[in-house]
Amino acid sequence: MTRADLLVTNLAELVTCEPCVGEGPLGIIAGGALAAAEGRIVWVGPEARLASEVTAAPGAARVDGGGRVACPGFVDSHTHLIFAGSREQEYALRARGASYQEIAASGGGILATVRATRAASLDGLVELALPRLATLLAHGTTTVEVKSGYGLRTADEIKMLEAARRLNDLQPVEIHPTFCGAHEVPAEYKGLPDDYVNLVVEEMLPAVVERGLARYIDVFCEEGVFSIAQARKVLEAGARVGLRAKFHADEFTTLGGAELAAELRALSADHLLKARPQGVARMKEAGATATLLPGTAFFLGLPSAPARSFLETGVRVALASDFNPGSSMGPNLQLVMTMAVSQMKMSPEEALLGVTLHGAHAMGLEQEVGSLRPGKQCDLLLADVPNWRYLSYCYGVNHVNGVIKRGRLVWKRARCA
Ligand code: NIG
Ligand code: FE
Repeated sequence: MTRADLLVTNLAELVTCEPCVGEGPLGIIAGGALAAAEGRIVWVGPEARLASEVTAAPGAARVDGGGRVACPGFVDSHTHLIFAGSREQEYALRARGASYQEIAASGGGILATVRATRAASLDGLVELALPRLATLLAHGTTTVEVKSGYGLRTADEIKMLEAARRLNDLQPVEIHPTFCGAHEVPAEYKGLPDDYVNLVVEEMLPAVVERGLARYIDVFCEEGVFSIAQARKVLEAGARVGLRAKFHADEFTTLGGAELAAELRALSADHLLKARPQGVARMKEAGATATLLPGTAFFLGLPSAPARSFLETGVRVALASDFNPGSSMGPNLQLVMTMAVSQMKMSPEEALLGVTLHGAHAMGLEQEVGSLRPGKQCDLLLADVPNWRYLSYCYGVNHVNGVIKRGRLVWKRARCA
């Protein structure tokens, strides 16, 4: 008999995202139940078998699913959610025809957020990020990647990453930090990107690593920002000190970021609106994940990434929010799934895997989170939907009713009076 300290029962569907555990590509168990002990899943199966296979420890918690659908907590593998200030004026300018790159070239864009973030204190950044994380959690996200990249000088990059570390201890969403010192060339290095790259590699990176503040390394590899050669330098320096590469690649121009991701065995290359199909095919060979950010294309009014052609190469496709104040001010992965299906023609199954198991792969966390099978963290959401397809089919609303993180009910929708 398996012993458990948490039982989740009375579910219409348990969507495990593990095909070998249930029916179809999402491993669905109709009338399924789940048991966990000390924050990890110990059993999943049809509820009819629960009583004969699992014993509840004295004082075990019981969550009545109320006939809802349960699925893995979402894994948002690309965000910039620590920042100060806001850029709603740029959003309005784009509606009048300005492009993201034009706004950036005129001193707005990332550099506007850099000015505000440099001016903020560590405590101030934490205070600003807490409600954002609460919104993520309420929309079903239980694990998130968070980047630096609005400091662009050593003390401010460290400040952002210290904020990420503190936030990890202050609220339930699990945060994994990325050093993204090469997010933009700061004003004081205008025209001197190579000098700035040297600062990133020689001063910032060692300072970040010495404090154990990052798990991944990122660079905005883009025309007018950092070239392939500069990106290679930053990512290789990160790899030498144990930071896995996941980076902004081939977003607005075809530079060969996908090929670089394959060559460097990156965890993921992200955006890829302009990636060459052969580059994406090489990513598949190298085991890298293609992380698509449909909210960004949507918010910037750009055509989406050619997800179908990527999927045909067999590359693993993750979906993330890219939550940031400039190009994607939206944290809702349910809506991201809708965009993936309606704009990029991904199947609803591919979309749900994109925000769960494949998001976990994009962070190298596929043994820990992203699906519901024994051994993994007990991270799940309960959705007020008749079946899992409604998660992306019925859009623009939050379907989440409850969220469990590491075996604890950490968010519950308040009942109306
Ligand atoms: O992923 N492309 C670079 N970085 C972000 C935008 C950040 C910003 O505009 O503040 C992105 O879209
Ligand atoms: Fe981004």
